[in-house]
Amino acid sequence: MVKIGNIELPDYPLLLAPMEDVSDPPFRRLCKLHGADLMYSEFISSEGLIRDAMKSRKKLDIFDYERPVGIQIFGGDEEAMALSAKIVETVEPDLVDINFGCPVKKVVCKGAGAGVLKDIDLMVRLTKAVVKSTHLPVTVKTRLGWDDDSINIDEVAERLQDVGVQALTIHARTRAQMYKGHSDWTHIERVKNNPRITMPIFGNGDIDSPQKALEYKNRFGLDGIMIGRAAIGYPWIFNEIKHYFETGELLAAPTIKDRVEAARNHLTWSMEWKGERVGIVEMRRHYTNYFKGIHGFKEYRQKLVTQDDGAILFKVFEEIEEAYADYQMT
Ligand SMILES: Cc1cc2nc3c(=O)[nH]c(=O)nc-3n(C[C@H](O)[C@H](O)[C@H](O)COP(=O)(O)O)c2cc1C
Repeated sequence: MVKIGNIELPDYPLLLAPMEDVSDPPFRRLCKLHGADLMYSEFISSEGLIRDAMKSRKKLDIFDYERPVGIQIFGGDEEAMALSAKIVETVEPDLVDINFGCPVKKVVCKGAGAGVLKDIDLMVRLTKAVVKSTHLPVTVKTRLGWDDDSINIDEVAERLQDVGVQALTIHARTRAQMYKGHSDWTHIERVKNNPRITMPIFGNGDIDSPQKALEYKNRFGLDGIMIGRAAIGYPWIFNEIKHYFETGELLAAPTIKDRVEAARNHLTWSMEWKGERVGIVEMRRHYTNYFKGIHGFKEYRQKLVTQDDGAILFKVFEEIEEAYADYQMT
């Protein structure tokens, strides 16, 4: 068992990564259904929360069936981070996560996200401010360092643990790498093997198959893994990995019927949570992933991403099920 504060997770838990415009309640519901053990909201601006910006507030929505669930915040100002942790507390998530990993310029420029990898003292002050202002467990997600010449995750991990952080997820890239190149998990392994480190350490970066998950589990000996991009349009990844861990065998790929069902649920829940129009429009980015690699699918994809009437979209799903009733996924 892995523990974060009072939260009990199974051995080697599988975490759903926080992803902006992706890890919202409808998507999280699907991932939960398919085996995610701990999930996070997308990152929420501390400044936005304090200003009471509608967009930031909406991201605080969580539902009991998705527990345990964490809310992720970011920002470069101690007071704003402390205040926003208090706001987060009011919706009673299971934990608060701080984002010290976002590489995007507009975030980094404000001394937030991966920006603080250049200033560990600031990172520690921001974390302390959050830990002091909430009774919830505080976790952190970060990267290896700013660039190849300044990898500082060893010091970061020790200092964050010293100020009360209860789990650390490390995306095995530097800020300079953005999402390119390969993620180097040997740095995470070193942190995990540091005898001073007692908090759970989760690895993140490029896990996209059950085989790779098992290989990394055996090779790096961490406390669990976090999965991001591979879950987009493919929430089955969590149970596929679990099944492979348990049996050494691969589950059959989801059928077209399974994919349609997932996309239909995703659309339904998006429309419920976001309102019909926004739900339909924001769902468009997901269809390519749900129906990736399906022969002759272009015509249906075109309909899915252009229709703005929910009833017609549900009819398109039926057409897809009929047209591909005998289709074999490879
Ligand atoms: C579309 C997208 C949005 C992301 N948004 C966030 C975010 O809000 N907070 C965060 O900590 N990381 C964010 N990330 C980074 C992911 O959480 C994760 O660290 C990264 O994708 C590497 O993991 P993967 O290879 O499993 O995708 C985002 C990544 C993607 C692709």
